[in-house]
Amino acid sequence: MKISVCGKGGSGKSVLTSLLANQAISYGLGVLVIDSDESNSGLFKMLGFENPPVPLMELIGGKKKLKEKMRNPNVLAESHLSVKDIPSQHLIRRNGLMLVSIGKILQAFEGCACPMGVLNREFLKKLRLGENEIAIIDMEAGVEHFGRGIDEGIDKVLLVVEPSFESLTVAEKIKTLASGMDKAVSAVLNKIDSEKIAYKLEGELRIKNIEVIGTIPNDPLVFEACLEGRAIGGGEAFHAAGKVLDDLLQTSLGS
Ligand SMILES: Nc1ncnc2c1ncn2[C@@H]1O[C@H](COP(=O)(O)OP(=O)(O)O)[C@@H](O)[C@H]1O
Ligand SMILES: [Mg+2]
Repeated sequence: MKISVCGKGGSGKSVLTSLLANQAISYGLGVLVIDSDESNSGLFKMLGFENPPVPLMELIGGKKKLKEKMRNPNVLAESHLSVKDIPSQHLIRRNGLMLVSIGKILQAFEGCACPMGVLNREFLKKLRLGENEIAIIDMEAGVEHFGRGIDEGIDKVLLVVEPSFESLTVAEKIKTLASGMDKAVSAVLNKIDSEKIAYKLEGELRIKNIEVIGTIPNDPLVFEACLEGRAIGGGEAFHAAGKVLDDLLQTSLGS
């Protein structure tokens, strides 16, 4: 199963990706985390790595080379890819967890991120997972990735919704765009302080026809880990992510 974690910037996509990845490891699954956010680079730290992987963009010769090849639909040479095909400097491992990164915007005036979008889309389409493997994609913020067709190769869209009007607005757009691609969408509420807020958000999402499959509390352990650039684990939020993973795995068994 390939799950893309989407939502407004700052809503908690990287946090939820890390929590779910750690839970999946504890279930004995092979977990591939794909860093698809070209702007933010802190995910490797949340997952407990000391250094990030070399972006896949470098594997194919960097952005310049890919730009030349963009008219060619076969961006990556192989028609199928599995984790064992990815060279070790591009796929780093820690405690059973695997991390790859598509690419990061590093310099001013380096041009748009379209080549990374192409690579991301092709990679996700070609990626073949083993029976006990799960891929969790920490997507770029907002909705542009749908416009670029990046989500074509994924099985499920997981929407992170924090308590803000803007987050609900992005959620509604994502629901519409994902449904247009026949992708199932479920929401996870994040940074929740009270049942009242959870109830309110869930009601708003119900009106937009978005199912809520979990609630992650506003957890000071998560906040501190993010502040200090430490690995995210344990605590209330981690526990709540376990329930979200259970739901995702049950749905995938049922389908
Ligand atoms: N469940 C949570 N509890 C406490 N703080 C959180 C939680 N989720 C996210 N945060 C805070 O929100 C910030 C943004 O989260 P992050 O996952 O980086 O967002 P995104 O990847 O969507 O941009 C974190 O740095 C952290 O301070
Ligand atoms: Mg992020």
